[in-house]
Amino acid sequence: MSFLRLEGLVKRFDDFVAVEGMNLNVEKGEFVSLLGPSGCGKTTTLQMIAGFVTPTQGRILINNQDVTHLKPSKRNLGIVFQSYALFHHMTIFDNVAFGLKMRKIDKVESDERVREILSLVHLKDFAHRYPRELSGGQQQRVALARAMVIRPEVLLLDEPLSALDAKIREDMQTELRSIQRTLGTTTILVTHDQSEAMALSDRVAVMNKARLAQIDKPFALYEHPRDSFVTEFLGKSNVFEGSIKDANDGLSSIDVSGLNLLANNTDHTIGQAVDFSIRPEKIRFVAQGKGVIDGTISSRIFLGNQWVFQVETSIGEFSVVSLNTSHIDIDQGSVVGLDWTPSEVRLLTREVA
Ligand SMILES: Nc1ncnc2c1ncn2[C@@H]1O[C@H](COP(=O)(O)OP(=O)(O)OP(=O)(O)O)[C@@H](O)[C@H]1O
Ligand SMILES: [Mg+2]
Repeated sequence: MSFLRLEGLVKRFDDFVAVEGMNLNVEKGEFVSLLGPSGCGKTTTLQMIAGFVTPTQGRILINNQDVTHLKPSKRNLGIVFQSYALFHHMTIFDNVAFGLKMRKIDKVESDERVREILSLVHLKDFAHRYPRELSGGQQQRVALARAMVIRPEVLLLDEPLSALDAKIREDMQTELRSIQRTLGTTTILVTHDQSEAMALSDRVAVMNKARLAQIDKPFALYEHPRDSFVTEFLGKSNVFEGSIKDANDGLSSIDVSGLNLLANNTDHTIGQAVDFSIRPEKIRFVAQGKGVIDGTISSRIFLGNQWVFQVETSIGEFSVVSLNTSHIDIDQGSVVGLDWTPSEVRLLTREVA
């Protein structure tokens, strides 16, 4: 039995359904992200686990115990919310010690645990300072230390890094992951940043419109998304509407605007409407006439480590991403062939609007 289980969790606010039929199993020590667009129900789900929002329906189990109607303080959770309010009149040391004091842990042990966790978040020399004397990233680490010091069974994080700039954020991601690994704390992270979710998580749960759309390991999710919503939420893709024309010898042919394109066989049936999807980094430039389709470069953008090209073709515009190999001979206006193999194509169930 999984360590944390959400069983058919539903939350309605009057007529409005914020979370619908959420089922999730998280193993002990696992790091799972809830990823999805604004308003899809991530925070509401986390708040139900935390006990601050009462589910309309369904159950929450932690370590085989039904905690659905338990008070937040009885659930042994560590929580870091987006606005990680520290106590401004208390030193960093006292901020972190607060939860232990509440739990009446004796002073010697408490001091020891606070020193240990401050060292883990690289703040042991800051113990005597006040929150206003720390940078945003440092304050964020205090919030994390404060949640971790009580040795929670489950750590709940709601966009804890969203206030930080890109560089500090990356450093904090690395640190968060390494602390979580060291302590083996079962962790649920809410984020709408796909690269953060993929970088940190054992598994990513993508949510869309109050529902769980798909859950899997980051690589599997990126390579085998179920529908165009998951595909496009995890990165860019070239998606074209088509229909299955034929299927044999392990290959399907798909009619996309009159063009016959190939993909590895799937369980789709002939005549079925599908979305044909190929990611920009899977497409290679070849000589005109030598690839799957020809096109004209309509723009190219340099991003340092990579180039992003827009290519006009008879079935629509493609995005193509190429690594910067210190050599570039593809100019705007040139006519090129675009090539890929059928195994790099994904056929997606068309999302019903
Ligand atoms: N107390 C409430 N009363 C009524 N509606 C609410 C309440 N709390 C949340 N909602 C609605 O439920 C939906 C889901 O909200 P939630 O905060 O879970 O979204 P989210 O996925 O965390 O979004 P974001 O990425 O913007 O934080 C939203 O449409 C929101 O307006
Ligand atoms: Mg939220």
